[in-house]
Amino acid sequence: MSLPDRIVEDCLDAVAGGQKAMRQVVARWVSEPMALLAGLGEDAPIGLRTLHRSGELTVLDFVWAPDMTLPPHTHEVPALIGVYAGREDNIFWRRRDGGIEAAGAQTLGPREVATLGRDIIHSVTNPLGMRSRALHVYLGDFFAPPTPRREWDHGKLEEHDWTPDAVRQRFAEAEAREAAMRSQTD
Ligand SMILES: [Fe+2]
Repeated sequence: MSLPDRIVEDCLDAVAGGQKAMRQVVARWVSEPMALLAGLGEDAPIGLRTLHRSGELTVLDFVWAPDMTLPPHTHEVPALIGVYAGREDNIFWRRRDGGIEAAGAQTLGPREVATLGRDIIHSVTNPLGMRSRALHVYLGDFFAPPTPRREWDHGKLEEHDWTPDAVRQRFAEAEAREAAMRSQTD
């Protein structure tokens, strides 16, 4: 069985145990970050690679471009994030007076896991000038949860619908920036 299939099998086994059981699975997989990086492919393309998607579980391999940010958004399902290369800086937001305000922060390096509740709002930055990698596990359908996902633009913090296409577009733009940087240094 391939390593991605083994990860998915472990996650499927943990679904019934909820977020606590899933955290243990994610923590175990990222506890050997170099092995995970090798098994998932060191040169995997920038973007979200879907290892599994169903109504009860989504498993994604996140490949962040250097210096890249996703603006504040909800998931509408519980989530676990385990970093295995580089870093993810999370800012947590809360709703206030019809908008949102910053409420906390958490930075994750290799072997570190964050547990995110169903209602969490966060923005995420890869602060490094290199790619970062993380396993993202959602206890539901990341792309189409039961209630629609929301997103806020980072400038005016205005709320709108979250769409998978907008996320893919952000990764494509970040990949193009990385390619432009590389061509300057070659
Ligand atoms: Fe997120």
